[in-house]
This record gives sequence, C-alpha cells and structure tokens, in this order.
Amino acid sequence: MNEEWLALVEEDGRAYLLQRGSGEVRVRGLGRFNVDEAIGKVEVGDSIKIGQKILRVLKPGLPEARRAMKRRAQIILAKDSGYLISRMGISVGSRVLEGGHGSAGLAMHLASVMGSRGTLISVENRPEHALVGQENMNVLRDVLPEFPEWHLLHSDLSECKEEVLGIVPELDAAILDMAEPWGAVGSISEILRPGGRLGCYCPTSIQLEKSWMACEKAGLSVEWAGEVIERRWSKASRGGVRPGNQPVGHTAFLLIGSKLGIPIEH
Ligand SMILES: C[S@@+](CC[C@H](N)C(=O)[O-])C[C@H]1O[C@@H](n2cnc3c(N)ncnc32)[C@H](O)[C@@H]1O
Repeated sequence: MNEEWLALVEEDGRAYLLQRGSGEVRVRGLGRFNVDEAIGKVEVGDSIKIGQKILRVLKPGLPEARRAMKRRAQIILAKDSGYLISRMGISVGSRVLEGGHGSAGLAMHLASVMGSRGTLISVENRPEHALVGQENMNVLRDVLPEFPEWHLLHSDLSECKEEVLGIVPELDAAILDMAEPWGAVGSISEILRPGGRLGCYCPTSIQLEKSWMACEKAGLSVEWAGEVIERRWSKASRGGVRPGNQPVGHTAFLLIGSKLGIPIEH
C-alpha cells in the first residue's frame, strides 16, 4: 500500500503534491523541508505554513496533479484535451493510443476518464521526455481512484503498429501530438476499429493542412477541424464580472477523422 499523497494549495491555486513518508525533500517554490514534520499530523482541510507560505491541505485529483506536474515538452491544455476526449467518444474501457507522450499532459486527462478497464498506450521517441511523462503518470496512478492499463512505448509513432497490436487487437481512438503527425496517420489508421477516431493536435495551419490530406488519403472522413477558443472572465475592481485583460491565445488547431470502414462501392 502506497503512502497517501496530499496536495498543498496556495491561494492562487498553485499546487504541490507531497507523499507522506517522503522525509527530507526540496520542492521548487517551497524550498527544502521535512515532509513528515510538515504534514505528518495534518488532515485534509487543514492549513499549514511552510516558510512564509500558508497552504491548504487537500486530497489531490487531476487538477492538482496537473498544476504540480513536471514539464519539459509543451503540454496539451484542459480545453483541448477535454474537447478531444468528448468529441472522440473516449471513456471507460476505451483502447487509446497517444503520442508523442511528452510530459503526459494529454495522457493524464485520458487516464482520468478511462477507468481500470481502459488501455492507454503512449508512444515517445525521446527518452528524456518519456522520463518526465512517466514520473507524472506514476504520481497520477497513486492519486486517481482508477487508472487504465498503461503502456509507454519508447518508439517512433510511425513504426509502432506491430508493438501496439501486441497489446490490443484494435484501437478505439488515437491522438497524435508531434511535429509531423501526417507521417504516422497512415499506419495508425490501419489499426483503428471501424468507427474509431484519429485526432491530430496541430499548432500551425501547415500542420493542419498536411494532416487533413493524410487523413483523407488514409480513408478517414474528417469529422471536425478547427480551434477551441477560451476566454476567461474575472472580477472587476469596481464590482461585477467581465472578460479578463489577458489576451485570447492560440494553442493549436484540432482535427478529428473518423474511420467509417470499408468504402462503399457505388
Ligand atoms: C508537444 S510534445 C507532446 C506533448 C503531450 N501531448 C502533452 O500533452 O504533454 C511532442 C512530443 O512528441 C515527440 N515526438 C516527435 N516525433 C515523434 C515520433 N515520430 N514518434 C514518437 N514521438 C515523437 C517529441 O519527442 C515530444 O516529446
């Protein structure tokens, strides 16, 4: 039985995940301290002071694990992860491939909805990125009530078809987030089940266009392409709520292709 994880949360939402029994640690933003002295006797809901910071002790879930996660490669944010998951019909028991795995931003969202009956296969070709993603997933596994069967393949996405088929007979969904997704669209779409969906996360319009063409060439029907725009609101200083001052930023274009099965002969 693993020791309990707790989230220490600042007033602005910044979170730190600590595991009871960890002893002396150095945490970026909190400094060096002894975990067991700091949180040994605290309970969920308590407030504690570490250095000059007052922190609320909470039971961590996906939002806290995301805020506290280690990062190396750029991550897919909640607005895009959530949209892809819903539109692609990913849920409990799904068989999903995702890559590049990077820091596991998307994989953490996927794992949180797939339950213990789901199978998640992550692919990453850079060991130093895979290591960061794996660390984040290991923490999440301890934090979530259920976690899918998870495989991390250290391979190239365009060459992993046989390895994937050694784990699942077919895929319900695949999401590609890499510089050149079109290079993997053909081989991955071959192992999608009829009705399965392939999503591409494309920061630039050239990536979107090339992925679109690759999907059509692979026999997928493009179901949805576009971007999800998020505009946050805040409390105005003189009362009321209004759109905040921060700009509406671009993350990526999303493309969702669906495998409709064998083309009908007319
Ligand atoms: C932007 S990051 C992925 C971020 C991840 N989806 C997340 O939400 O945290 C892109 C990753 O794709 C990996 N990558 C690029 N080309 C690849 C390929 N052909 N096969 C496997 N991984 C690849 C890179 O090493 C990098 O870690």
